[in-house]
Amino acid sequence: MAAFTLSPAAPCKLQSSKNGIFPPSQALLLKPTRTHLGKREKSARITCQATSVPADDRVPDMGKRELMNLLLLGALSLPTAGMLIPYATFFAPPGSGDSSGGIVAKDALGNDVIAAEWLKTHGPGDRTLTQGLKGDPTYLVVENDRTLATYGINAVCTHLGCVVPWNTASNKFICPCHGSQYNNQGRVVRGPAPLSLALAHADVDDGKVVFVPWVETDFRTGEDPWWA
Ligand code: FES
Repeated sequence: MAAFTLSPAAPCKLQSSKNGIFPPSQALLLKPTRTHLGKREKSARITCQATSVPADDRVPDMGKRELMNLLLLGALSLPTAGMLIPYATFFAPPGSGDSSGGIVAKDALGNDVIAAEWLKTHGPGDRTLTQGLKGDPTYLVVENDRTLATYGINAVCTHLGCVVPWNTASNKFICPCHGSQYNNQGRVVRGPAPLSLALAHADVDDGKVVFVPWVETDFRTGEDPWWA
């Protein structure tokens, strides 16, 4: 048991009667007790008794704190990720396409377009709407040799977005909204539409027609595709 004296002149300074100030690593609890005050001393003196703080009350070191924080973070992360992943996939659009960004063409009933079946019921020169990339109405073209064209024609008018019907009699696409006209490949031949109809590749994969984004030169104009 060590005795200390608190001096009124320096109240925050602990003094030991023998060994001086204790190092900070030694935590001490000070208990003030009353001592005899000399008549000539106007200032009061307090003698303190020091007792050791139990080891259980000491503050953990930084290494232990960091370890506990990491364990807590790991315990919270796993269930949180387990909840967030299904939530995020719920909002991801379902896709029937492949890694190239392609999508299987759908007929008017929403069924996959089977190339061989399609050609049985659609003759040379036919242009029939299917569902294409991003759900856009897209014409599937049957060439005069009874094969499918390697391109599909997006039916959305480049003026204000009306769906442009195929006019067999005039061999053109004619927009009913403001009269724009496109030739049988979708190239604009009369305004006010400023641009040709967009293209998509029409491939056959495993018997099904697959639309794939067209990013190459527009073969009708020799220019870069405006829609890519
Ligand atoms: S929307 Fe087709 S011409 Fe205007």
